[in-house]
Amino acid sequence: MNNVLVIGGAGYVGSHTIKLLKEKGYGVVVLDNLSKGYREALDCIDPTIPFFKGDLEDKVLLHKIFNQFNINTVMHFAAFIEVGTSVKDPALYYHNNLIKVFFLLEAMREAKINNFIFSSTAAIFGNPQYDLIDESHPQLPINPYGDSKLMVEHILRDFSYAYPEFNYTSFRYFNACGSDIDGKIGHSYSPATHLLTIMMEAATGQREQLNIFGTDYDTPDGTCIRDYIHVTDLAEAHILGMERMIDQKVSDVFNLGTGNGFSVYEMVTKAKEITGVDFKVVNADRREGDPAKLVANPAKANKILHWNAKYGLEDMIRTAWFWVNNKTY
Ligand code: UFG
Repeated sequence: MNNVLVIGGAGYVGSHTIKLLKEKGYGVVVLDNLSKGYREALDCIDPTIPFFKGDLEDKVLLHKIFNQFNINTVMHFAAFIEVGTSVKDPALYYHNNLIKVFFLLEAMREAKINNFIFSSTAAIFGNPQYDLIDESHPQLPINPYGDSKLMVEHILRDFSYAYPEFNYTSFRYFNACGSDIDGKIGHSYSPATHLLTIMMEAATGQREQLNIFGTDYDTPDGTCIRDYIHVTDLAEAHILGMERMIDQKVSDVFNLGTGNGFSVYEMVTKAKEITGVDFKVVNADRREGDPAKLVANPAKANKILHWNAKYGLEDMIRTAWFWVNNKTY
């Protein structure tokens, strides 16, 4: 039995991945400091999941969990993710997203745990130099968030080279969104910072309006284009990546997106159609650091992991709408 320690498992992508891990029969243990996550998410999945409220900097606690549960794989989802905050307070980001992960990797080496799954991001690529971003696209982040993730990727690459027993899989997410298809868990993050969750709040009246950040981009309708990917599709890729990493003892990196881009205007039109609410939309100035277009080339994950995004934009909006109206945390 493969026992997985999920760090940051009470958060958005972590909890959706745990739900799938449990459905597939894996042993799961969660470590989360609950700075952003919700303990309730785990109760909704399975209240018997062992949970430790604590920080991954707590080496004594890490070793206790490693030993007590015979951990074989560690998944890391415990990063800060707000680009703007990372620019204002880079120390916070480098400490949480880089330094803490380094010490986690050291603790894993001490305990001889050699399988690591890492949540990375499309932000490691910076401004796209060509359409459909593949894994070998130049990696030139334009903010400390992207830098912190890329630095971890470099550590992982160097560790897997120098310590052949150590394997990792890193996933660069494009725009994760949507909530659990069964509606048991969902995307709760306060305050909302992502387009879809903000639109849902506008549709329920929790916020007055949606501001569209820039309508003069070099795109067909002038608004930014992104590759939105359903969180359950991301979760599925993590499990396929983990299984391959363990079976074949390989390390790898994958871009996770659908390969299709939607503009902010297209997102608004679809959200209004699905929710049936004509929420207020205001054209605003550009937001600093937003590239005009970010779309993945998912061919490598399609081919090597036999992974394909199952869910489309409608599923993402429909599940997000269900969650905002029925959320339990
Ligand atoms: N947007 C608006 N109004 C809003 C919120 C967002 O117009 O109120 C626009 C943004 O300008 C952007 C698009 O909607 O064009 C998507 O914005 P999000 O904030 O939802 O997502 P980002 O594309 O900025 O960021 C996401 C992840 C980051 C990751 C980045 C990598 O959230 O963690 O993709 O490209 F770094």
